[in-house]
Amino acid sequence: MSDHISVNRDGAVLRLGFNRPDKKNAITADMYAALADGLDEAAKDDEIRVVLFEAAGDMFTAGNDIGDFMAGAATPSDPHLTPPVMRFLIGIATAGKPLVAAVQGGAVGVGVTMLLHCDLVYAAKNATFHTPFVDLGLAPEAASSLLMPLVAGHQRAAEMLLAGKKINAARAREFGFVNVVVEPAELSEIAMSAAQDLGAKAPAAVRLTKRLMKGGREEILARMKQEGVHFAAQLSSAEFREAGAAFLQKRKPDFSKLS
Ligand code: COA
Repeated sequence: MSDHISVNRDGAVLRLGFNRPDKKNAITADMYAALADGLDEAAKDDEIRVVLFEAAGDMFTAGNDIGDFMAGAATPSDPHLTPPVMRFLIGIATAGKPLVAAVQGGAVGVGVTMLLHCDLVYAAKNATFHTPFVDLGLAPEAASSLLMPLVAGHQRAAEMLLAGKKINAARAREFGFVNVVVEPAELSEIAMSAAQDLGAKAPAAVRLTKRLMKGGREEILARMKQEGVHFAAQLSSAEFREAGAAFLQKRKPDFSKLS
């Protein structure tokens, strides 16, 4: 449970919403746990046929909570426990039921990489997409190092993952990870209606089709694990210490003295 994730059942659709607008919906460990619980609930409950990710406020999400990263909260002290973020990422990568997303305003970090696991992505005209992992001294996550080049092609993936360029909704549609760009005022209704349409279809046929389209998940899970090792190592690096401190102190990071 987290006050910062809204969980609402609406017919066959389970709506999971980022709800921490004062912090731009930055995602804490508790929020990842609530999202992972929601995905577990959707998997177990026959009446839920589709999951819709949405957000309150002016942003989809500013990505992982940087304060959490700096406090080491992203990694549990017991090495046998799966961190909530990994539970969530594995949950979206292995979801048997369709995932739909409604993105308004900024999507940063995992706010973008999670979309690579969704089946239908609706974006408001004002949406932007930004994966500044390198700028934070970090590494890609959510198997984005595999999926983004597959979806967008290497050079366009490099624009996001290496160069850390922020792109707009029209360009994200061109890249291939957004289906439709809509007016902000219509986003919620259009995404919900698409989720309801999917929810009204023959459920076994939907699940079967998704499973066949997604193919083997082993490569994706293996890449997530590999990225996770590098991500964890980078979290304790001087590069991230500088980038994290710079964010909290609202200044630009200085990597000039690092090799
Ligand atoms: N982690 C923790 N706190 C965050 C956050 C994050 N990822 N993103 C935003 N916040 C907090 C800010 O610290 C600020 O808190 P404060 O009011 O206590 O100072 C509040 O949310 C509002 O953010 P602010 O930066 O003032 O809003 P903005 O509209 O000027 O900028 C962003 C919005 C998203 C561009 C900017 O907050 C940002 O760059 N966030 C970091 C994104 C990021 O790098 N995520 C990690 C990816 S791996």
